[in-house]
This record gives sequence, structure tokens and C-alpha cells, in this order.
Amino acid sequence: MIIAPIAHSCSSDFASEVAAGLTMNPQKELPSKYLYDQLGSRLFDAICELPEYGLTRADERLLRKHAGEIAAQVPQDVLVCELGSGSGGKTRWILEALTRHRKISYFPIEISPMALTLCQRELSDIESLAIVGLEREYLDGLRHVAERRHADQAMLVLFLGSTIGNFSDPADVAFLRQVRGMLRPGDFLLLGADLQKPLANLIPAYDDALGVTAAFNLNLLSRVNRELGANFDLNAFRHEARFNAETSSIEMHLRSVRPQSVTVASAGLAVEFSEGETIWTENSHKYSLIELKQKALVAGFQVHVQWIDTEWQFAENLLVAAGEPVG
Ligand code: AVI
Repeated sequence: MIIAPIAHSCSSDFASEVAAGLTMNPQKELPSKYLYDQLGSRLFDAICELPEYGLTRADERLLRKHAGEIAAQVPQDVLVCELGSGSGGKTRWILEALTRHRKISYFPIEISPMALTLCQRELSDIESLAIVGLEREYLDGLRHVAERRHADQAMLVLFLGSTIGNFSDPADVAFLRQVRGMLRPGDFLLLGADLQKPLANLIPAYDDALGVTAAFNLNLLSRVNRELGANFDLNAFRHEARFNAETSSIEMHLRSVRPQSVTVASAGLAVEFSEGETIWTENSHKYSLIELKQKALVAGFQVHVQWIDTEWQFAENLLVAAGEPVG
């Protein structure tokens, strides 16, 4: 079953966020959430298959290897909520382990109805699993589930794939704190987070030889052209992945190769670009283990168990809602 949205973000939100981002000075920006239209989501799936991009495989290895341990940590009567389930592939291991000895209700939360349909199809063979997809923003969907659960039912929230790293610091902690605000002490959050690693691995992961990540990044301009009547010349911008050592983040940018002006009709906007100027399109933070512990604590969680992949430094963190968020 899929529960449809109560409110959709519409093209006027898109237009106003694009206008706000492109008029920022000195650094122009576009919000990374708009990278994921239909083609963008498919390009992201292709990125996950690239030899250079080890993140998804590390996440999957850990989930597959430790699913039994994860299931053993949570109470018998637990419902499972996933923020951004995608097509549900990597959640299978945990759901299979959880349903070995009980019935489980699983609530994938996604803004993409296509991903929800795929997710339900992918997981439909798991016995003792009831799937209720919510076509909502993460926090909105989580609130919906949290408000309807039984008084004695625990919750396990899954937030996998290091999507948390795409919230710039301190928005990551603010987001975790909001999640914590909807949970009860003793509830769990399984948080996947990509860790710091050598630049020799990081840069190719975001600037691959086939140019898939470049296409993923440039597709954002193509989306603005299509949906907001803009006239970006895709040949006049180049994908760039760079490491910001101060923030410990990979940043994706689109660099203007010449001076140019671009109009965005639906936003009533004309924007000037100088040669070499960039639009910042995504931040992907790389965590240290200590930092993860500290951020969890500030958000009102404690690290219960942490599993690390050694082939591609990545951490699966089982956090427990410990008390009221601090500060
Ligand atoms: C979804 N997110 C965790 C990806 C990342 O690695 O930050 C998005 C991505 N951007 C470029 N490649 C992958």
C-alpha cells in the first residue's frame, strides 16, 4: 500500500529556491535535492555501480554481514521506518533478519512514487512483512508513522547510504535532532555514514572516468532548463569535484567555461557568470568516528554499536534515543 502525500513541493518552490541559490554572492548554489529527477535518480543508481564509488557496496556489505546482529539488538515489538528507501534493495537483509521470528510493519518514506513502487515489488516476497509506503518528505513521513504507533511499540529508523553527509554541517545535527524529537527513549536509528579516506580514493569516486557523475551533476541544469524555462548551455559548464579540507567534504560544482548570461523564465531571473565561476551543487561530508559519536550525542542519541567496513571506510551506526536532545 502507498499513502499519497498531503503536500507536494511544487514548481514554485523549485523556482524560488533556484532564484535564491543563483543570486547568492559570492558563491552561487543550487540545492542538491533537485539532482534527483527521473534521469538523475537513474544516473545515481549507475554511480552506485561504478568501480570508483565504493560507498554503496560498503553500505551493502555491512548490512548483509551484520543484519542478524542488528535484528538482535532491537525489541521484539518494533516497527521499521526508512528515510529514503530507494528501491529497497539493501534493506532486504535487515528485513529478512527481523522477520525471521516475528511479523514486521515496514514504512519506506520517499518523495518518488516510482521508487516506492519498485521498493514494494523488490521486497514483496519477504514473508511476515507488511509494507506501507509513504510518498512524503522524510520528517513528514516519520511524524505520520510516529504519531500512529502503539504506546508499547518500539521504532527502528533506517537512514542509510550516508545521505546524512549531504546535509552541510550543522544541518546534519539539526536533522538528527528533529528525528530524535519524534522518537521515544529506547528507539533506534541505524545511520550509515561515509568516513574520511585518502583523496586518491575520494576524488575519482566523485569524478569517474566514464563521466557518469559529471552527467548527474549537469543534469541539474538540464532540469532547470526543462522545468523552469531556463537557457543553460550544458556545453558551457564543466563538472568539478573538489575536497574542502576545512569542512572535510567533497563538493560538487559546475564551472562556467566562459563569461555568459543565463535566464530562468519561471523565476523571472537573468544571471551573469564570469569565466571560471562555479555553481555549488552538492556537499558530501566525510565523517570521523569521534565526530559521529559527538554529533549523535548532541542530537540526543548514543552510539549503541558501530560496524566499520575496512575495504571502503564506512560506518553503520546503531544509535539509541537516550534522553532529551541536549542544548
Ligand atoms: C546520496 N549521497 C550519499 C551521494 C554522496 O556520495 O554524497 C550522492 C552522490 N553525489 C555524487 N555521487 C554520489
